[in-house]
Amino acid sequence: MHGFPITALRSVELSTPDLPGSVDFYTRIWGLQVVAEQAGKVFLGATGDDFHVLELKAGDRSELRKATFRAASEDHLATLLARCIDRGCTVVRDIGPADAPSGGLRCVIREPRGSTLEFVHGDRRKTSAAVPNQVQRLAHVNINTPDPDGLAAFYRDVLGFQITDRSRMMAFLRCNDDHHAVVLAEAPVDGLNHIAFLMPDLESVMRGSGRVVDGGCPIGWGVGRHGPGDNVFAYFVDPHGVVVEYTAEVLQVDDSYRFRGPDEWTWPPGRTDHWGIAPPKSEVCKKAQLAIGFAG
Ligand SMILES: [Fe+2]
Repeated sequence: MHGFPITALRSVELSTPDLPGSVDFYTRIWGLQVVAEQAGKVFLGATGDDFHVLELKAGDRSELRKATFRAASEDHLATLLARCIDRGCTVVRDIGPADAPSGGLRCVIREPRGSTLEFVHGDRRKTSAAVPNQVQRLAHVNINTPDPDGLAAFYRDVLGFQITDRSRMMAFLRCNDDHHAVVLAEAPVDGLNHIAFLMPDLESVMRGSGRVVDGGCPIGWGVGRHGPGDNVFAYFVDPHGVVVEYTAEVLQVDDSYRFRGPDEWTWPPGRTDHWGIAPPKSEVCKKAQLAIGFAG
């Protein structure tokens, strides 16, 4: 088994212009639970063993404040920080006790394209349970960049990810057995494309999607089954413009997985998913996938 210095995508932090409204959406409709409130931030948990998967903080607009990854050990934390400094990243927080109630040690950097990344080790975990129709954990974060290959090289060479596939528009990277934890999408701007939340199964993606539709938020793309990663998906635009995805059945891979490039990841005309049933993505969803920047 490949020894990854980062073992998981744990959580993301968003700013929102309407903190109570966002908390309402992510609890009542999306299905997360408030697990802590501290220093103006609301921490939201799922049913898996992560203390929290989403942090919300009031701000002028919706932005990606940071993505948090779990490091394999304290030594890996130090190695990751040293490699990031070597690659020209800005140190936002040196290694020290985490600010979040999940605890552990952390460091925070800003990579050259402007996204803020946090690495944690020894953070609090809880008992995991797979609850039908409820989010277990994060599945992946999809980041926009004008230079997916350059940023993929950063994730590979500096953070130790493995590139599993490259479609015409996207690079897929893994840090554990999931086919991808990070996706880099070619776009004219740097920013957040979307955040994917893992559901226990396909039925939960369907029933969860029904709950979100009932909550007044229509499906932006899906339900369908992706090419790279073979995961089922349903995309939504949250009330403050952030694109979020329910996903399940993410392909599990090991070192024997064969990378495929853009020539092999093609669809017949008009098709955007394996099943061939996903209607075209809504214009609202397409726009939202390019509209969320990184907090400076
Ligand atoms: Fe996705």
